[in-house]
Amino acid sequence: MIPAVAKATDAPYGKTCPGGFNDRTPETPDNQAHSISTGMTDTKRVLLIISGGIAAYKSLTLIRRLKERGIAVRCVLSVAATKFVTPLTVGALSGDKVYTDLFSLTDEQAMGHIRLSREADLVVVAPASADLLAKAANGLADDLASTILLATDKPVLVAPSMNVEMWEHPATQRNLATLAADGVRQVGPERGDLACGELGAGRVAEPDHILSSIEALLEDTSTSLRSVRTLVTSGPTQEPIDPVRYLGNYSSGKQGHAIAQALVSLGAEVTLVTGPTKEPDPPNARVIHIQTAEEMLAACLKTLPVDVAVCAAAVSDWRASVQANQKMKRSGNIQHIELVENPDILGRLSAAQLNRPTLVVGFAAETESVVENAKKKRLAKGCDWIIANDVSHETGVFGGTHNRVHVIDEAGVENWPSASKVTIAGRLAARIASEIAHKSIDA
Ligand code: C5P
Repeated sequence: MIPAVAKATDAPYGKTCPGGFNDRTPETPDNQAHSISTGMTDTKRVLLIISGGIAAYKSLTLIRRLKERGIAVRCVLSVAATKFVTPLTVGALSGDKVYTDLFSLTDEQAMGHIRLSREADLVVVAPASADLLAKAANGLADDLASTILLATDKPVLVAPSMNVEMWEHPATQRNLATLAADGVRQVGPERGDLACGELGAGRVAEPDHILSSIEALLEDTSTSLRSVRTLVTSGPTQEPIDPVRYLGNYSSGKQGHAIAQALVSLGAEVTLVTGPTKEPDPPNARVIHIQTAEEMLAACLKTLPVDVAVCAAAVSDWRASVQANQKMKRSGNIQHIELVENPDILGRLSAAQLNRPTLVVGFAAETESVVENAKKKRLAKGCDWIIANDVSHETGVFGGTHNRVHVIDEAGVENWPSASKVTIAGRLAARIASEIAHKSIDA
């Protein structure tokens, strides 16, 4: 998507700082074709609307992260937001003018609110208050933030933030459903301690999570997973031995849950089938909690048909052939537990005669010859892509926040740099979106 490009003379107050909002080659008939073919290398531009709330301070971190990534950011503060963060701070971090007032004649002459809403590749509202979401859902336009949301022709991402009661109120949920139907993407909120002292859902998504959704959307704003049905497995499975013991593994579910969240951000319909983890349920995904591999398989098969399946769960390869009804006692003799193999969920989905997903993605957790073993696994399981990662103890991948993966498909191997699991999830969701778009064009 080629965004409207500002002429140098259009820059408010002549700002054209390198890497800034207006730092783009102006389009002329001569260079138009060139700028279309190199669209991805241009500086991407985000219009960040900060609405009122204690979480406004987190947007300062988001601005810094965006700038670190070379993404230009121009900010709009609602009047309430100015009580929490000052335009001076926001302007210093973004390196651009900050807009706050719909009725400023100077601003309107230099940069009308319609242009403001369109001179970006993406509009992000973080934090998004219940009030601003309600206005946007109902098409109100009585201040600069709501007017921009009504006037923009660009994708919009919202990061809601509010008290848990406000979040759970049917009115808020209705408004979000309306916005989702209008194509607005959402990231968060997360569960946790809220500024009001209560505990629950409503905490704005962490800046890194918002950044990952932004990057996925900017990767190719014309690519979306809207209405694409996806299934994600995540976490470990636990295979009971007796009423108090089980066979399990160290999987935290962080990577699988982040993938589910990233797919939701691109508009996909997501069913997450997860083993026991400490990770909160991703908002706007259908979440099925299971314990054993057999339960996971049953939940996955019940979810078919889907367009995309991502098997990120660390499924226990074995289970005890019999489960003791009572706690097994120490008898002085070593007990032998007979193991039987668990069903291979990834293999079953890949080989499904009926309802095979268009794209099946597996993970390969390896501790040696990572890429070689993963290549073999892709062929053995019959999936389309394998995401290989090294889970040796020293890598800290199991339970950690970062990962380094190799994406293996029919064409070869892509080695991705080490990054947070959230960032990897965003990149993977964007790759899936692009693959699905190509498959539908080919079909
Ligand atoms: O554990 P392993 O590295 O073999 O897992 C490879 C892939 O197979 C992963 O995507 C995992 O989710 C999947 N798997 C599965 N069912 C199993 C074992 C693994 O779906 N029983």
